[in-house]
Amino acid sequence: MAESLQGRVAFITGAARAQGRSHAVRLAREGADIIALDICARASDTLTYTPATPEDLNETVRLVEAEGRKVLARQVDIRDDAALRQLVADGVEQFRRLDILVANAGVLGWGRVWELTDEQWDTVIGINLTGTWRTLRAAIPAMIEAGNGGSIVVVSSSAGLKATPGNGHYAASKFGLTALTNTLAIELGEYDIRVNSIHPYSVDTPMIEPEAMMEIFAKHPRFVHSFPPMPMQYKGFMTADEVSDVVVWLAGDGSGTLSGTQIPVDKGALKY
Ligand SMILES: NC(=O)c1ccc[n+]([C@@H]2O[C@H](COP(=O)([O-])OP(=O)(O)OC[C@H]3O[C@@H](n4cnc5c(N)ncnc54)[C@H](O)[C@@H]3O)[C@@H](O)[C@H]2O)c1
Repeated sequence: MAESLQGRVAFITGAARAQGRSHAVRLAREGADIIALDICARASDTLTYTPATPEDLNETVRLVEAEGRKVLARQVDIRDDAALRQLVADGVEQFRRLDILVANAGVLGWGRVWELTDEQWDTVIGINLTGTWRTLRAAIPAMIEAGNGGSIVVVSSSAGLKATPGNGHYAASKFGLTALTNTLAIELGEYDIRVNSIHPYSVDTPMIEPEAMMEIFAKHPRFVHSFPPMPMQYKGFMTADEVSDVVVWLAGDGSGTLSGTQIPVDKGALKY
């Protein structure tokens, strides 16, 4: 089968594991060379779930190379503007172009809005919203400069489209990404760069801690209605690979008429 992204270069953040790794491997399978970053450490003491490691990012490198593609991977925090710009510069020097950006790195925390600490708020907004903006700011000039158009996929969440009681700071960050996506779709139109956001719901990754959610629901039973089961999959979570199906499609020419759209990846859950 012809590789639909042959000759293109894709930059993926949060690529050490889970969805980011899956997107890197699937884009490589379609023929793209990969620039990958991950913090590979606990981004803040306010986060309770297991952090990604340098070994995780090495495994992503191995998997991309096993697809026969080249990869430049580096431990970078998306809050660090200088490190982001250096990685983009080094990536463009090595691969000579940049066509696709998947802004996927993100963190999740829990707490009612008026009970959040400054640290909880600053971590989630600082990474998901400000860090993603810094990623976009670092990558977009290189995409414009390359002159080949391109596709940016911003990883928001169902929480970027609807209320999610128990994580209002996360929802605020993901709604913010929806706004950035739609603004950029207009600003980048003249450069043939498309910008769309995806809004996954319940993907099986280390970020999802069923115990933390159960604790919130036990304390606040009314919140459970905001987290319905998926109509097409009553039990469990979807896989990262299922989300990658959508990312690969948005990255490629088959979605060429789409820009400034919000694509739910939710098996119907947002319709409840
Ligand atoms: N899992 C879900 O159900 C779900 C649903 C909707 C949206 N999302 C979003 O999908 C994206 C991927 O999450 P995931 O589910 O694969 O979880 P994950 O925790 O396994 O992956 C997130 C990755 O981002 C990296 N990261 C975090 N902060 C970073 C920083 N400051 N700089 C660089 N890298 C950083 C982490 O190390 C990790 O490897 C996130 O943006 C998340 O908000 C997840």
